Amino acid sequence: MAKDKVKVGLLGFGTIGGGVAKVLLQNKDLIASRCSMPVELALVVDLAKEATVAKMESIGLPQNMYSSSVNDIIDNDDIDIMVELIGGVHPALEFITDALKKGKTVVTANKDLIASHGGELLQLASEHNTDLHFEASVAGGIPIIHTLKESLAANQIQEIMGILNGTTNYILTQMAEKGLDFSVCLQEAQKLGYAEANPTNDVEGFDAARKVAILASIAFNSRITDDQVYVEGITKISDRDIMYAKELGYVLKTVGIAKESESGIEARVHPMMIPTDHPLSSVNDVYNAVFVEGFPIGKTMFYGKGAGEFPTASAVVGDIIMATRDIHSNTRARIGCTCFEHKRIKPIGEAVCKYYIRLTVTDKPGVLAQITKILGEQEVSIATVLQACTFADGRAELVLVTHQVAEAHMRKAIDEIKALQCVSEIGNVIRVAGENDNLK
Ligand code: HSE
Repeated sequence: MAKDKVKVGLLGFGTIGGGVAKVLLQNKDLIASRCSMPVELALVVDLAKEATVAKMESIGLPQNMYSSSVNDIIDNDDIDIMVELIGGVHPALEFITDALKKGKTVVTANKDLIASHGGELLQLASEHNTDLHFEASVAGGIPIIHTLKESLAANQIQEIMGILNGTTNYILTQMAEKGLDFSVCLQEAQKLGYAEANPTNDVEGFDAARKVAILASIAFNSRITDDQVYVEGITKISDRDIMYAKELGYVLKTVGIAKESESGIEARVHPMMIPTDHPLSSVNDVYNAVFVEGFPIGKTMFYGKGAGEFPTASAVVGDIIMATRDIHSNTRARIGCTCFEHKRIKPIGEAVCKYYIRLTVTDKPGVLAQITKILGEQEVSIATVLQACTFADGRAELVLVTHQVAEAHMRKAIDEIKALQCVSEIGNVIRVAGENDNLK
């Protein structure tokens, strides 16, 4: 018998869960019209009973809609859609597996889970003629997953370059604007609630790596898991690097890159100097942006808030609406897993970039010659040299920017330069966006 409404079970009632409930209530009539039938929030499951019930009451949801057991969603044949917002791999994986096996549509914001187990869960959804939607798992409110899967489906994607982590973007923006160092800006981000008490996932790049894995898998139709993404965080970025970046005409950002060439796929997250005329350079504070290049679209950029109650709820409820429309029109399992190829993933040594090198050396004749000799032997060509400053102890800080070169050559050169007697410290080596990074 055709359904006259769709019922939703919400698993996890934290910030995003609360936002989803509010949007479903506030935009109820609009959503019903757009879906051609009502979408009803039927059950809220969360282990924190007191806080959940209090929050439910504050937004007008009755207490009897609360349960502490996920089985009240999974085993309830009246509930069509399970929305998973508890995060983390376990037990979300087991709960979603059970729900898909029951034929429920699952909507999730869980990037950890999709980046590590997305392939098997999508496969399971297809086997049970249902769907797994995860728009909110990448860049919160920015609609990029369905855009890649549907609106840009005509395209051969060449590259995705994104600012995918609001916390690190906030920290780097503050460092650049206020001239403060990393730890002060991190503390400020924690005070404002942008960074967690344990900031590792954000500042070491793991959060962005999960998002790159998800985007790359969709863009190149080949499964890439988060552990296959090369990752470097921002903890070694100093205020001196930010200062030199400015002087050289760049802005420092943490970028996620997914790129395809004939030799395979590159998937990486690391700090990068971006020219000030690139559209990503003006993406500041907690904002995210995803820059996509493909044929026939050319270059396009998507911008917005990558986290937070309402931006993320927008993506989750969008998925609920899509699921409801498919239930209404009996068109479930329409797309499924799009990873139908097995492409090679290139090791980081094959990535080609320009590099900024900051090093402290003895300030005497012949030092630069020793360094440039090593770079030359490794086929590293120098684009710019700054003798940035001379310290009171007679040492000097040198800043070099190279032309494009394969990372393996750069690493070998750096190891040899480090071993020179006249070099007391390699302050930092940072990739610089080059000719092959879709600059204009
Ligand atoms: N912690 C993330 C960020 C948001 O700072 O962007 C959730 O992925």
